[in-house]
Amino acid sequence: MNPSRRKFLQQSLFAAGSLAFAAHAARAAAGPGPHPGAHDEAYWEKVRAQFPLTSKRVFLNNGTIGVSPYKVIDSVYEDMLDCDTFGWHGGGEQEALSALASFLGTKEEEISLTHNVTEGINIVCWGLPLAAGDEVIITNHEHVGHAGPWLNRRKLSGVSLVVVDLGKTAEETLHNISKAISAKTRLISVPHIPCTIGQVLPVKEICSLARQRGIWTCLDGAHPPGMLRIDLHDIGCDFYAGCCHKWMLGPKGTGFLYVAEDKRNVLQAYYGGAGVDTGWDLTTNPFLFKGYAESGHRYFYGTQNSSLYQGIARAVAFQEEIGRQAIEERVKALSGYLQDQLIRLHPDMDMLTPQEQISRAAQVSFRVKGRDMQKFQARCQEKEIIIRYVPENNIHCIRVSTHIYNTYAELDYFLSEVEQFVFS
Ligand SMILES: Cc1ncc(COP(=O)(O)O)c(C=O)c1O
Repeated sequence: MNPSRRKFLQQSLFAAGSLAFAAHAARAAAGPGPHPGAHDEAYWEKVRAQFPLTSKRVFLNNGTIGVSPYKVIDSVYEDMLDCDTFGWHGGGEQEALSALASFLGTKEEEISLTHNVTEGINIVCWGLPLAAGDEVIITNHEHVGHAGPWLNRRKLSGVSLVVVDLGKTAEETLHNISKAISAKTRLISVPHIPCTIGQVLPVKEICSLARQRGIWTCLDGAHPPGMLRIDLHDIGCDFYAGCCHKWMLGPKGTGFLYVAEDKRNVLQAYYGGAGVDTGWDLTTNPFLFKGYAESGHRYFYGTQNSSLYQGIARAVAFQEEIGRQAIEERVKALSGYLQDQLIRLHPDMDMLTPQEQISRAAQVSFRVKGRDMQKFQARCQEKEIIIRYVPENNIHCIRVSTHIYNTYAELDYFLSEVEQFVFS
């Protein structure tokens, strides 16, 4: 990219940012309103102004942690203040359960509140009745939050892990999983979208295949909620562990676990406490433990931060105000643009994210032969461009994530860095 274009991009980037900053002062009270339904950059600038995100930074790492809009932050703050002014606590949990159920296409009783994806995966990992030698299919693109619990279960109770390669297409991935199934397979536990290359797995087909073979399914849903429209009943999985702190734009340290109603009596709860049981008494002989809650409360317990949970409901309302279809189309358009431009940059570009439409969404991962991508990430950091280096499973690539607060100007700025550093 020539220097004048580069300067222009930088200027427009930061000019747009200062406009956004002025709007921040108004604390985005009015909200962005619904998407107008046509290509409209001015609308997305209005959306950007709903976030405190600094204009001095190009933040393309929503896949690690999302940023919340003022509506969420203010709601958490105000609710905490209210709780501490009047010495009360509560309400947010119920709001979160009903917001999440409608967001995910489930019944309210199928949702448990957790603090992150890892917690949900651990509940499934330890709650399923698996014996030594039973096989669990995972992939070679796992995050530690999914791999870690299974490696631990393998170590402590002898469950066998069968690691399949992700294919370059949805069809190939389905084929690889299908080939890995044996008479000992009890569970297929895979990411809906892996943290490594952002590929959307054919989860509906995987779940259907598993059901036909009497195999349970668990999906690591760290990334898709808030990025793609999701209907868990339609996908047909048994378990889905998600978080609200990436694309959902909710408070950090909030998540959920979906347990299909007909699997509630299969997945054993291993922690007791307030909310888990339907009645207990230590003065009877034998002691009374009536049973487990007939809801997702079977898997969470004790005092929670009600204000954070209320923030989940505000995040869902924020997304619904814009429109979930508009969000999905926007984040895909940004990533699609970036992917196409990267491929055009140089024949040595090793584009790892599949290009087929059904397999790509809001993340693009790439590397360049002979170039140290970790160094590139560090250089980007110096230039206030935040991206993720992916060392997992020796992939050693760069992952770029897009969300509704990103602009094409930011992507062009990033592309100019790729061009300069990697190919000059
Ligand atoms: C695919 C995937 N799974 C699991 C996790 C762990 O999520 P959490 O930190 O919410 O437990 C992440 C986090 O980035 C992830 O990308």
